[in-house]
Amino acid sequence: MSRNIAIIGATGVVGQEILSILEERQFPIKSLKLLASKRSAGKTISFKGKDYVVEELTHDSFEGVDIVLSCAGGSISKEYAPSAVKAGAIVIDNTSHFRMDPNVPLIVPEVNPQDAKKHKGIIANPNCTTIIMSIPLFPLYKAFGVERVSVCTYQAASGAGSVAMEELRDESVALGQGKTFERTVIPYQYAYNLFPHNAPYNDGTEAKAELNAPKGYCEEEWKMVAETRKIFGDAEIRVAPTCVRVPLLRAHSEAINIQFKKKTSVEEIYAVLAKAPGLLVFEDPANNRWPMPIDVNGKDPVFVGRVREDLSQENTFDIWVVGDQIRKGAALNAVQIAEML
Ligand SMILES: NC(=O)c1ccc[n+]([C@@H]2O[C@H](COP(=O)([O-])OP(=O)(O)OC[C@H]3O[C@@H](n4cnc5c(N)ncnc54)[C@H](OP(=O)(O)O)[C@@H]3O)[C@@H](O)[C@H]2O)c1
Repeated sequence: MSRNIAIIGATGVVGQEILSILEERQFPIKSLKLLASKRSAGKTISFKGKDYVVEELTHDSFEGVDIVLSCAGGSISKEYAPSAVKAGAIVIDNTSHFRMDPNVPLIVPEVNPQDAKKHKGIIANPNCTTIIMSIPLFPLYKAFGVERVSVCTYQAASGAGSVAMEELRDESVALGQGKTFERTVIPYQYAYNLFPHNAPYNDGTEAKAELNAPKGYCEEEWKMVAETRKIFGDAEIRVAPTCVRVPLLRAHSEAINIQFKKKTSVEEIYAVLAKAPGLLVFEDPANNRWPMPIDVNGKDPVFVGRVREDLSQENTFDIWVVGDQIRKGAALNAVQIAEML
């Protein structure tokens, strides 16, 4: 059945990717409304060979809309999602605003599709690094049980939106030419550098007490802990993340160290990963070739490889995972949820 679709943030990185995935997967669309801020109102965006005029988002934007894909930031979803639900639409929200709301299912279709049925008008798309980790972790969790996970992420500029991508491009060129560069969104030199994540950090002071992260963590790291618990439906699962921003334009990588409950082996882990949905084992060990960000750009599956035993601890293994976070980490996951609806 064809649906009336609206995209909030249609001009942004995630919004643009949603459009290309809707087209690619031939999502049945009756009507399409492209919404953004006043800045972009009046611009035209081509979809399936037809030009659509971007409209300014207002509380009256949702009449007759069946599904709203919201990707303009948490404060925008907070303000406008209730109006969309009131108008009868179902909102699939890409922002962090509703993710931990107990009335809002947090869905990775390969992990907990059954939870989507419990929605009361809003379904949340998890954080991109959490989605990418969950795709290999969940089948292993089901097969062997997980004692503890330690994960380090290597996150690209596009995770911080289109302005961060532009800034990385421009700064790389400027520094390469020996010029200085004035940054606006990324707080530190980004080209030829990396740094613990640029998400808000809880230093334990009263000023940071409202942050959604315990002392010593940044919000991005705590999302990986709290959201994994909610998606897996396991409040006990132990996850220790370190999130790092690296000077890449697209795709996030993750080095994941997992201690299992049941005894297992490298061979058994590969066997589980080979059959898991949304995942591709991609490697050529003889040539020391493992998944790289450039391998996954524009691709749907999360790539995994380099399964090896951690010789420092019993029944513990390392895996290397790379995923296009604009796609599976955001836009594709949201469109898959829309397809489920
Ligand atoms: N990038 C990722 O990898 C990723 C992954 C998962 C989740 N997310 C989440 O998805 C959301 C969007 O991220 P993004 O990377 O696509 O950001 P972005 O490239 O900066 O795009 C932001 C979008 O929001 C629109 N917008 C901004 N202020 C608005 C307002 N007041 N009213 C209506 N629209 C407004 C912008 O429209 P204008 O053109 O008018 O400025 C633009 O379309 C964020 O919440 C982000 O955390 C991003």
